[in-house]
Amino acid sequence: MKSNENPMLRLENLSFGFEKTKPILSDISFTIEKGSFTLITGPNGSGKSLLLKCIKGLLKPTSGTITLDGSDVTRHGKRRLASIGLVFQDADTQIVGQTVERDILFGLENLELPIAVQQGRLDAVVHLLDLTKQLKQRPRTLSGGEKRRLSIAGVLVMQPKLLIMDEPFANLDYPSVLQVLKTLLQLKSEGHTIILVSHEVEKILAYTDSVIILSEGKVAAQGSPSSVRPLFQDHGVYVPLEVPLEELTWLKP
Ligand SMILES: Nc1ncnc2c1ncn2[C@@H]1O[C@H](COP(=O)(O)OP(=O)(O)OP(=O)(O)O)[C@@H](O)[C@H]1O
Ligand SMILES: [Mg+2]
Repeated sequence: MKSNENPMLRLENLSFGFEKTKPILSDISFTIEKGSFTLITGPNGSGKSLLLKCIKGLLKPTSGTITLDGSDVTRHGKRRLASIGLVFQDADTQIVGQTVERDILFGLENLELPIAVQQGRLDAVVHLLDLTKQLKQRPRTLSGGEKRRLSIAGVLVMQPKLLIMDEPFANLDYPSVLQVLKTLLQLKSEGHTIILVSHEVEKILAYTDSVIILSEGKVAAQGSPSSVRPLFQDHGVYVPLEVPLEELTWLKP
């Protein structure tokens, strides 16, 4: 995290509702520093996925501003679509290609990059996400964990400025959770800016830099993991008591 740089993302008083009179997200403000790893948590229905869609540019906020790396992009949904990589909560919705390889290359093809560049990016993400053996496989036949890794690969290959993952541990078994955790930490160590949305706080909290708790569409708390930790239970997020912060992860150092 470098304090003399623009933050990667800043939301100021962002609100959203499908009907103007019924806001679902109200007055959300926070800052995401470059290279940081932020956890957004909150109970089911608190507005996490809708918030991510507003950030990505898929939904238009009713009010408020979004600043990405120093530029006001509130009215530039398209710019956000290109710069922000969002791994959706449901991995199936993201599958588009007939094979794993085609699926990963799908987004790149629209960028008209030279074939050698596409191949280089493909090789890098396939290696990182351990999908080498599955390249020619049909995405629908992948296991849950492999599908999740494929959806992350398809987003990473676009080299987004900001990587956002919505509930990446959902439906995964223990080894697959570990694989996703390892990938997240590897990306963090490479300097990526990451927002992770999850209510499975005990799997990851030890490695986060900052935490935002959403409750009924509002920011209920934000700060360092240790400062926010006592507030989880009040806002419907389970975290084991009496466990030191550094042990609140499934991936032991
Ligand atoms: N298309 C829609 N039309 C109307 N209401 C919606 C729509 N999509 C979501 N909502 C409502 O907005 C609220 C927030 O939904 P959201 O999907 O953001 O919750 P979430 O925090 O991601 O929950 P979860 O932990 O279950 O994934 C919920 O009450 C939901 O019913
Ligand atoms: Mg959600």
